[in-house]
Amino acid sequence: MKHLIVANWKCNPNNLVKAKKLFSVVKKGIGVVKEVEVVVCPPFVYLSKLFGLTLGAQNCFWKNLPAGRGAFTGEISPFMLKDIGCKYVIIGHSERRRYFKETCAMVNKKLKAALANNLKPILCIDSINQVKRGLKGISKKEIKKIVIAYEPIFAIGTGKACSINKAKKMNFSIRKILGEQAAILYGGSVNSKNAKDFIKKAQFQGLLIGGASLNPKEFVKIIKKVSQV
Ligand code: 13P
Repeated sequence: MKHLIVANWKCNPNNLVKAKKLFSVVKKGIGVVKEVEVVVCPPFVYLSKLFGLTLGAQNCFWKNLPAGRGAFTGEISPFMLKDIGCKYVIIGHSERRRYFKETCAMVNKKLKAALANNLKPILCIDSINQVKRGLKGISKKEIKKIVIAYEPIFAIGTGKACSINKAKKMNFSIRKILGEQAAILYGGSVNSKNAKDFIKKAQFQGLLIGGASLNPKEFVKIIKKVSQV
């Protein structure tokens, strides 16, 4: 299976010029790496301004609106994301659960809405319970289209990545539920020093990267290291 590396820019950078620059330096740096699928998830407002790499959104509305539109001030429908060329959407990130009170029920609805619009969801979880509750009522066939990202909260933005053993255990526990073929990423303080171990030793299919994805040199270094696995 091809490795998948996803950049979650979160609420960065703070203007379009910087966003374009970051994107183009990453694009150039990666060159023709074929062994890794690279996805960039910038803030919504930059999505339609960036070209040449696979794009993902960081969130979407939980309702599958008829024709993708309706009276829901401030929301972005999965239909709109698909329309502007997004392939992926991150759903249930721990920062959204924490600061915006997203529940597993909302996450579950978002997954269904994203799937109904042919977006590939990246479901972020930090426990098995969140996997089970998030995927409730979704058919086995549809679950195969979902990427799971194990992001232990203590490892996010702290510089203290999860131990390889603990991450590997979680990877295998999720596989036990979803099957051997499940696409599972690790996220939380990934850098160019630890990236390879999460792929090689903990056997994840890929990585979801926050802080290090804002440093193009470091991000490209991670991609190149993973491409050698
Ligand atoms: P950091 O890589 O900054 O720890 O963030 C991880 C994350 O939350 C990616 O979604």
